[in-house]
Amino acid sequence: MEKVTVFGAGNVGATVAFFLSHSLELEISLIDIDGDKARGVALDIAHSLPVLGLSSRLEGGSDPGLVEGSSLVIVTAGFARRPGMSRSELSGENAKIVRQIARECSVLAEKCIAVIVTNPVDEMTYLFWKESGFTHDKVMGMAGVLDTSRFLYYLKTVAGLDPKSTRAMVLGTHGDDMIPLTNWSRHCGKSLEEVVDGKALDECIEKTRGAGAEIVSLLKSGSAYYAPAVSVSIMARQILQDTGNVVPVSAYLTGEYGIEDVFIGVPTRLNRKGVAEVVELPLSERELGDLRRCASRVRKRVGEILV
Ligand code: 2OP
Repeated sequence: MEKVTVFGAGNVGATVAFFLSHSLELEISLIDIDGDKARGVALDIAHSLPVLGLSSRLEGGSDPGLVEGSSLVIVTAGFARRPGMSRSELSGENAKIVRQIARECSVLAEKCIAVIVTNPVDEMTYLFWKESGFTHDKVMGMAGVLDTSRFLYYLKTVAGLDPKSTRAMVLGTHGDDMIPLTNWSRHCGKSLEEVVDGKALDECIEKTRGAGAEIVSLLKSGSAYYAPAVSVSIMARQILQDTGNVVPVSAYLTGEYGIEDVFIGVPTRLNRKGVAEVVELPLSERELGDLRRCASRVRKRVGEILV
């Protein structure tokens, strides 16, 4: 049975473990500094399986050794935003946590693929890559699938577009300057700019960018976890089932889109190798310019963390 380890038994990690254990047959380790919490969540999820005839196995604890033998690790450990905070304000506290987990994985699970969820995700993914010594195709961040799902939600609720006949993608950072591809995205074969009036499209973009903060302000203690968990599970499925499908993830660029030495949200082909390929879409001049400006902002913030 394939093994997946989830670092962090908070809302996101617990929901990832729950969703994965129900959608795939896996051995799942849940690791948290609070070993009892990890054990309790693992046991509770395990109790949900037999009545559904499902046979995933779960274990929890604080011992990093639980990661051994994992094909995939999912890093959700860290602090969540409080109302009014930006994701970048979490860098200081979460960098220490991600560094520690990266070191543990470099020793105990050096052959695995890592999906980083901890915010600010583009910066934390770079940090994990640097600290773990993994090759960059084995490390990626979760953001684009989540932001794209939110964009599709608002295209439906604001502009009335059926997600089933809309092909959309959100690239760039998982932050206020994320880039919904309004020119590349299509609804029934036409660009969004042709089928949605400017004001409504701007509203969809603004709501997508603000969705995470809106949930933080409503929950008051923590951030979103259902949509992030589903998004991580979609990435995990592409990797574990070797699908070769193209999904937006925060991936390392080595010149694609004229960008290098940064992790940022781009279309990638995912399979058992991790990021098999960064796919270069025919972006508009504006979309390409936005992506490059995004990249330089992320690179600057990474430089501030690595000092
Ligand atoms: C979000 O956008 C937690 O960053 C995540 O909700």
